[in-house]
Amino acid sequence: MRSKVIAGNWKMNKDLGESEKLIKDLKMSLNFDLGGTRVIICPPYPSLALAAKLLEGTSIELGAQNMYTENEGAFTGEVSPKMLKAAGCKYVILGHSERRQYFAESNEFINTKARKALSSGLIPIICVGETLEEREKNITDQIVSVQVKACLKEIAAADIERVIVAYEPVWAIGTGKNATPQQAQDVHRLIRKLVSQLYSIQVADRVIIQYGGSVKPDNSADLLHQPDIDGALVGGACLKADSFAGIIRAAASSGKK
Ligand code: 13P
Repeated sequence: MRSKVIAGNWKMNKDLGESEKLIKDLKMSLNFDLGGTRVIICPPYPSLALAAKLLEGTSIELGAQNMYTENEGAFTGEVSPKMLKAAGCKYVILGHSERRQYFAESNEFINTKARKALSSGLIPIICVGETLEEREKNITDQIVSVQVKACLKEIAAADIERVIVAYEPVWAIGTGKNATPQQAQDVHRLIRKLVSQLYSIQVADRVIIQYGGSVKPDNSADLLHQPDIDGALVGGACLKADSFAGIIRAAASSGKK
């Protein structure tokens, strides 16, 4: 059985002092049995090293929100996988729709980053998802298929089980309008089918597929009960310890029936 993975994408929020407070609050809020649920936080770059220190001895893991494809060099403003590893990161979010939209990141570039992350020992959380216009045109499956195939291109079978895919419909991000559990499940099932076609059924069975887009404590249980939804990539609701903990609690109890 796949474990549930709940990741908090802080986006461009929380300076150093605010990061310290949120992490301390979160540690206090997670005073229940996680039941095998993996918890990840992805603060902005300047807070990563501090976060790693504050998370020592806890079961909360650390991720970054982006990275570049080289280890070092003349790439002003960029951050390398080597630096992320040294700062204590185990995960890195790649291809978030905000990076696709505001920084023109292509599937090809995201794929290069994903392969670099894997060869650097980082676990990529690769984001895919359609816009509202694409959903209304009934081309969601087509868009997501192209994204998944392009982003996973040439990732070795030995590596694919470490990859996390996050389905984040763009129209659900930050809008308060989450996909219904059925809408999300349909796309998650499609993604798992694509992975089984590209690799094998056994591999597809083990790959973690998260849902992201207006996940909140009160809608998380229904989403997480879907057979192909293995966790959540949370934006707004991860910026408050009690609401993030509420989602983690829903994940922790989703396996217990
Ligand atoms: P919201 O939870 O704020 O909709 O953001 C989702 C997201 O983009 C996570 O990466």
